Amino acid sequence: MEKRILIIDDDDNVRKILQVQLEKAGYITNEAKDAEATYKILEEYLFEVVICDIKNVGGIKILEYIKEKYETLPVIMLTGYVDINTAVEVMKKGAVDYLTKPIKKDEFLISLERAIQHKKLLEEEEEVRKTMSREFEEAVKESIERASELEQAYYYLKQANFDMVKALSGAIEAKDPFTKGHSYRVSQLSLEIARKLTFLNLSGEQLEILERGALLHDIGKIGVKDAILNKTSRLTGKEYSHVKRHPVIGEEIIRPIEIFHPALPLIRSHHEYFNGGGYPDGLKGREISIFARVIAVPDAFDAMTSDRPYRKALTVEDALSEIKRGRGSQFDPQIVDIFIGDNIYDRYMI
Ligand SMILES: [Fe+2]
Repeated sequence: MEKRILIIDDDDNVRKILQVQLEKAGYITNEAKDAEATYKILEEYLFEVVICDIKNVGGIKILEYIKEKYETLPVIMLTGYVDINTAVEVMKKGAVDYLTKPIKKDEFLISLERAIQHKKLLEEEEEVRKTMSREFEEAVKESIERASELEQAYYYLKQANFDMVKALSGAIEAKDPFTKGHSYRVSQLSLEIARKLTFLNLSGEQLEILERGALLHDIGKIGVKDAILNKTSRLTGKEYSHVKRHPVIGEEIIRPIEIFHPALPLIRSHHEYFNGGGYPDGLKGREISIFARVIAVPDAFDAMTSDRPYRKALTVEDALSEIKRGRGSQFDPQIVDIFIGDNIYDRYMI
């Protein structure tokens, strides 16, 4: 590859001598006798090295200009007299070498070769830096794309998950039309209660578990005989025991779906009583999952205020007095207080 050198000197003679020597050594040369001509020619050609006189052409200004615009282009400064301060100054400003006239031919060519090597090194470094930053940028871009794909996949899954809950919850209603909308109302009222339990500091994820669990709490009714679910007269003891199995059946139905595992205690325990008198395990107080204690109140309230095959709906007032009667025995008193005190029962009468 041709190596082009720019010679800047106001003295025609000096330029001529340098040009001859350089061309003999195999270089191509261009010349400029002042700053203006230098800037113009720098635009036209790519140079390997610039050789620049200091004194008469404003060499320091030219050096600054070149270092600003063409960072890797080496500049060898020439001067007619020895001045250590100027030498230090030009080296600080980025010159690769400083030669004093008269210039020895060998010294000059060695300095030139060193300058070319210096440029090559700088360019290689720059190339490595660019490649690294390109690779880094690509890696970052790739991980951003990956993250957004994952996020999308997460939302799809979440949606699919929720659709599955709705489908399962719909299956209960198909089996027991008297409970139409029951699970939805219970889930929404439960969420309202849970949001008031500020000391629990529930995360969005925990609220989702509650919502999901509340929608599925009666899923076990799928395993209860239609004849019993739709019976219009009072249930016999045996029939009632059969109905009482639905929390355990529900837990068994949901267990194979691993992502719903956090909702299992809620499904199993939603008929436990705060005083230990409920089923299926006879758990007491805080032994009962907080979510099961939460849904127990709106579950009972919504059941009472809806028509059932064996009875008409109770009025809201009557249902509320029943809830109050169960405060501390059937229900967690704190949940009852929120449900009634904050009028939560009034929100979702669909
Ligand atoms: Fe139930």
